Amino acid sequence: MNLSINTYQYGDRPEVTLPDRMFYKVLGEEGIRKMVSRHYDLLRESSIQGLFPVEDEEFELAKLRSSDFMIQICGGPDYFNQHRGSPKLINRHAPFSITPEGRIVWLNCYKQALLELPIAENIILSFWNYINVFSSWMVNTAPRIK
Ligand code: HEM
Repeated sequence: MNLSINTYQYGDRPEVTLPDRMFYKVLGEEGIRKMVSRHYDLLRESSIQGLFPVEDEEFELAKLRSSDFMIQICGGPDYFNQHRGSPKLINRHAPFSITPEGRIVWLNCYKQALLELPIAENIILSFWNYINVFSSWMVNTAPRIK
């Protein structure tokens, strides 16, 4: 499966397409929570681990918030809005320094979690296309000068 990572100019906000609702139908809430949990566990082992909570309790809450959002965006109940209010994800990411390199690490952790799912390729791709594009919106720190 070709899960390639798009590159964008710093500051670009390319148009986002939401995942196909089939992703939610096939995985269900529990499947999405498991996928997010796996993603976070991989982030914790990655070079951007320093961005994420250290305490187990806070780390579990981070998984919960993120999975609430992913369930909502994939067409499930609006748990994120109920618990956290309007997503405003750019603002919520503002306290963290997210570089283009950090985005690639974040996406590679998702790539691994997605490739472990026992579901059809086209369904995985619709979720990948969404995070591939939307993740560029969270980049808020200019690339390192080489
Ligand atoms: C570009 C790569 C990204 C990085 C490095 C990143 C990093 C982070 C960090 C450090 C947090 C705060 C700790 C936590 O609650 O986990 C966070 C929160 C969150 N992120 Fe990301 N993120 C990225 C992209 C995305 C994308 C593309 C989405 C949505 C599709 C997303 C959704 C969320 C949500 C829903 C929260 C919880 C916000 C809250 O309730 O406060 N993130 N992210």
